[in-house]
Amino acid sequence: MLIDHWPLLGLRLITPRLELRLPTGEELGDLADLAAEGMHDPGSRPFLVSWPGLPPKDRARALVQRHWRHRGDWSADDWSLDLAVFADGQVVGQQDISARDYPVLREVSTFSWLGVRHHGKGIGTHMRAAALHLAFAGLGATDAISGAFDDNISSLRVSEKLGYQSDGIERLAAHGQVTTTRRLRLKRDRWEATERAPVTITGLTRCLPLFGLPADGRQERHP
Ligand SMILES: CC(C)(COP(=O)(O)OP(=O)(O)OC[C@H]1O[C@@H](n2cnc3c(N)ncnc32)[C@H](O)[C@@H]1OP(=O)(O)O)[C@@H](O)C(=O)NCCC(=O)NCCS
Repeated sequence: MLIDHWPLLGLRLITPRLELRLPTGEELGDLADLAAEGMHDPGSRPFLVSWPGLPPKDRARALVQRHWRHRGDWSADDWSLDLAVFADGQVVGQQDISARDYPVLREVSTFSWLGVRHHGKGIGTHMRAAALHLAFAGLGATDAISGAFDDNISSLRVSEKLGYQSDGIERLAAHGQVTTTRRLRLKRDRWEATERAPVTITGLTRCLPLFGLPADGRQERHP
């Protein structure tokens, strides 16, 4: 079976409101439809990367290719786990967790978006919290980093609620102009001290070697 060769297909993060997991082929289609409908208010440009700004059809295809690319290019030293987010069985958005040199650095980065009709209902906070649970409780991370443009109030607020602290700024050329990104960092001790909703992780143990971690399950912990 495919899952025997790609056990990440069996990894699930379950919260009282959401389920996060790799999408099946058809679910990836649903995610692409959602991206085509809109990932943010037309007046805003919250992403540094350019594909969310493409016309709807191209954006949807770019999303599908990005998912396939991340699975195809996966290595323990450079991975991106692109999880579909489900609420009441319906796909509502995407939560990525990625890392480079994870076995040494133990640091993850996150990226997320919701279909625009699902914004502002607390889902973004819950899905990031689930990703953090996988990182800290499941994979033994020491740090999680994030970043958002100065005017991305929702993303910055989600980070603030989950305990991230300022980690400086970064000046970047985006959309042809200088743009300031606020860098944020959540250390393990802050995550442990922050109040959290319960998250259950299933199917992780057999995935650990893909993250460059020992396969004995020592990293898998439940609240
Ligand atoms: C960022 C994103 C994932 C957050 O998800 P969400 O479900 O909308 O976020 P939540 O509802 O959990 O939390 C948003 C918080 O921002 C606050 N907020 C949003 N707009 C605000 C505003 N204009 N002023 C003050 N607070 C604001 C909300 O009140 C809420 O905080 P609260 O719980 O303390 O009230 C989602 O908005 C999104 O997909 N945005 C477009 C893509 C994006 O920006 N991705 C991140 C790239 S770095």
